[in-house]
Amino acid sequence: MGINSGNLSYSESVQSHYFVSELYNNILDKLKTIGVDLNNVKRTDLSSVDEFHVRGLEVSKELAQQITSSNLKVLDVGCGLGGPARMIADEKSCTVTGLDLSQEFIDTAKALSKLVNLDSKTTFLKGDALDLPFERNSFDIVWTQHVQMNIFEKKKFYSEIFRVLKTGGKFLYYDIFKSSDNDINYPMPWASRQDLSHLIKIAELEKILNSIGFNSFSQKNQTNAGLASIKQMLSHIKKFGPPIMGLNVLMGKDTKQKILNAFNHFDQGDLQLWSGFAEK
Ligand SMILES: C[S@@+](CC[C@H](N)C(=O)[O-])C[C@H]1O[C@@H](n2cnc3c(N)ncnc32)[C@H](O)[C@@H]1O
Repeated sequence: MGINSGNLSYSESVQSHYFVSELYNNILDKLKTIGVDLNNVKRTDLSSVDEFHVRGLEVSKELAQQITSSNLKVLDVGCGLGGPARMIADEKSCTVTGLDLSQEFIDTAKALSKLVNLDSKTTFLKGDALDLPFERNSFDIVWTQHVQMNIFEKKKFYSEIFRVLKTGGKFLYYDIFKSSDNDINYPMPWASRQDLSHLIKIAELEKILNSIGFNSFSQKNQTNAGLASIKQMLSHIKKFGPPIMGLNVLMGKDTKQKILNAFNHFDQGDLQLWSGFAEK
């Protein structure tokens, strides 16, 4: 969407929301602090920071159960730091391409893959989900988690996914949807301000996917599982303070307010978490 916020374009405003300087070095410092040997970092040592969505690695592994063959070509749209991409490459023996708007996240994703020896099975590039730099019918699986909330042009977003997916391929998603018309309080983990957030209801997603030509849908309401996980995170922060290595590394100084706002809206029934898949 071409909204200008101050001197920044919409895309620059989203990038600015997610920007963390010196992210890779910061993560290395945190790993050292919690006692991880930097010459022997395992993929799962990174999970508390490189899975930027409610319920982290656990829910990614659950979604990945839909990937039932190896050697597939997978695209992660809005891949962040590449945790889900590395998990799929490692556990499902697939080659995974991750694309993200944030140059900082892409640089960090590449460096983290190298650190855990998964750089031969993962590729990361900076790009816009609304203009995917791939030929049509390029991927067996297209995957996206917690990205579309930043995107106003939903039909364009899902049409691009449809275009690059092979016929018979699977689209897998895990996302946040609105479930009431009440106002939402910001900051949220995905948007410091309301104008960076574009929430739709799950029924609207189904309509959009249908209209584009996807078929054979399956959806799962993940809200209760998400709420339980956020509750646990909040009580951990209350008892012990912010974790050394957690999503606070990405969400910055207002992490607690972002988590609290998300929790309250899930709890009050304004927001829901859904995972699902559709076929082309
Ligand atoms: C909450 S993070 C989720 C990251 C990752 N999917 C994960 O679950 O770990 C949202 C990500 O979407 C990316 N993003 C937002 N709008 C985008 C766009 N138009 N094109 C590509 N990436 C985008 C952001 O840069 C950010 O990395």
